[in-house]
Amino acid sequence: MDFALTLLQWFRENGRDLPWRQTRDPYAIWLSEIILQQTQVKQGWEYWERFICRWPTVEALAAATEDEVLREWQGLGYYSRARNLHYAARQIIDLGHFPNTLEDLRRLKGVGDYTAAAIGSIAFDLPAAVVDGNVYRVLARYFGVNIPINTTEGKKTFSALAQSLLPEPPCQKQKDNCRHLNAVYNQAIMDFGAIQCTPQSPHCTVCPLMESCEAFRSGKVGNLPVKLKNLKVCERHLVYVYIRCQGETAIHRRGAGDIWQGLWEPYSPTILSEGKDGLTKSSDSEILNTLRGINGTLVSLRRDVKHVLTHRVLYADFYLLETDVRPELPSDYIWIPETQFSDYAVPRLIEILLESL
Ligand code: ADE
Repeated sequence: MDFALTLLQWFRENGRDLPWRQTRDPYAIWLSEIILQQTQVKQGWEYWERFICRWPTVEALAAATEDEVLREWQGLGYYSRARNLHYAARQIIDLGHFPNTLEDLRRLKGVGDYTAAAIGSIAFDLPAAVVDGNVYRVLARYFGVNIPINTTEGKKTFSALAQSLLPEPPCQKQKDNCRHLNAVYNQAIMDFGAIQCTPQSPHCTVCPLMESCEAFRSGKVGNLPVKLKNLKVCERHLVYVYIRCQGETAIHRRGAGDIWQGLWEPYSPTILSEGKDGLTKSSDSEILNTLRGINGTLVSLRRDVKHVLTHRVLYADFYLLETDVRPELPSDYIWIPETQFSDYAVPRLIEILLESL
């Protein structure tokens, strides 16, 4: 049987009886989706009932204060959801009606692609496929897709696949589901992922999709979906010496294969003295030793300036060395008038360090 029809049939027999499924009120559905964004159904249920009881309409929620909403939200975590919910209630009042297109739903604070598709389909039966963690898992396994789900390509592939699977009306054989086909189908695939095709120990032997499931056929159920691990954040210690010599300073350009490729920086003795992991912290005498023939003193301007990049945390020490004699430097250093430093592109960290001069 067809993928969507099988899910619809499974849902009729196994779908969860949740209170927000007894209504088509977009306000009640929106509220459930915001609550369920980072919360399990079991915990969210109680909060949804409390909110609906206290603020039964979007007008009532908009008339509440933000503090009242935050207080009611207490215990659920991710408080930006509550602030956005309250803000969006006022956006809806300003709009004059509950938004009923994907574009208008997407304009509400706190509503992204998933939530817009969920509200749009469940409340208005718009043909918009939801793609949440459950959907990624069901589709990755059933179709044997091993593109990592947390990449741009993965997101594009899975949302296109999900969209292509929305059941086509009319579906004569499924008469009772025909009225709100998109609404029912989206909730069916999410429940299927939550109950049947679970992350651990999925119930494959009693699965209605088993015979045509690619992951089951090839024994890859446990390996799908694929998610790229976040790269380990590594720490690095850097030392920079701003050498001032008769109105000039020495800089060099970072080389290829570097996060700062093409950018300029002051003298960096760590390049000479440290190992490749960059973790060694140099002493003042070690730094001076790298500047052969120089007897000047190092003035420490900044220590352990923390600079956070996506996969790296940098700690930088910044020194000033004033001298009348040009030290001997590696050949890729150039001397420039200090007044011209601003003509050279530097990493943000260097910009911060230069402020202390
Ligand atoms: N998770 C979030 N919203 C859901 C819904 N409407 N049905 C099933 N699972 C969900």
